[in-house]
Amino acid sequence: MKKRIAVLASGRGSNFQAVIDAIQAGKIPAVCAALITDNPKAYAVERAKKAGIPVRVIDYTAFPSREIYEQSLLSAMQEVNADLYVLAGYMRILGAGIVRAFPGKMMNIHPALLPSFTGLHAQRQAVHYGVKVSGCTVHFVDESLDGGPIILQQAVPVIDGDDEDSLADRILQHEHECFPEAIRLFCEGRLEIVGRHVRVK
Ligand code: GRF
Repeated sequence: MKKRIAVLASGRGSNFQAVIDAIQAGKIPAVCAALITDNPKAYAVERAKKAGIPVRVIDYTAFPSREIYEQSLLSAMQEVNADLYVLAGYMRILGAGIVRAFPGKMMNIHPALLPSFTGLHAQRQAVHYGVKVSGCTVHFVDESLDGGPIILQQAVPVIDGDDEDSLADRILQHEHECFPEAIRLFCEGRLEIVGRHVRVK
């Protein structure tokens, strides 16, 4: 049986596109039931329209407070009723109320080898620190910042002369493989969370 997934994205949506492509190619047994975005101008919205995926805009700036924005986002997510919520460059931290509503049902991709370089500008942090290897991490979302149980990681070399952009481009190619793969494993019912560990069955 196909799973229902919903994607949350705020920007250009290249990871969202990789997921759309993998679904359309029959690699992920899922339907993408919605794109939810906080940014009505996100290029991800164009990608959704092209693929015939319904779009829900929950524009943070249109709400009088963070609480009311989060209530509205929570309602939209509940209405979509997805088996899995995929954070693909969603640029707002989700409050504890939302994270608790979907335990083990929310995944994020982060452009570093966690637990290194959490938060924003992970590629810049890696270049500044001088690491020789960075990468990307797909993980389940819990209430910590980029700290939930790790599903998949891919290592990517940092090359002499790299800047934030060149490293980000190299990591992104790996994100586009890693994220659809993690979503495929979830949709095939092959991921089991045991404490901090994710076992692939
Ligand atoms: C990616 O680097 C992802 O790891 C991070 O945000 C970026 C989103 O890029 N969470 P895109 O919108 O998928 O192109």
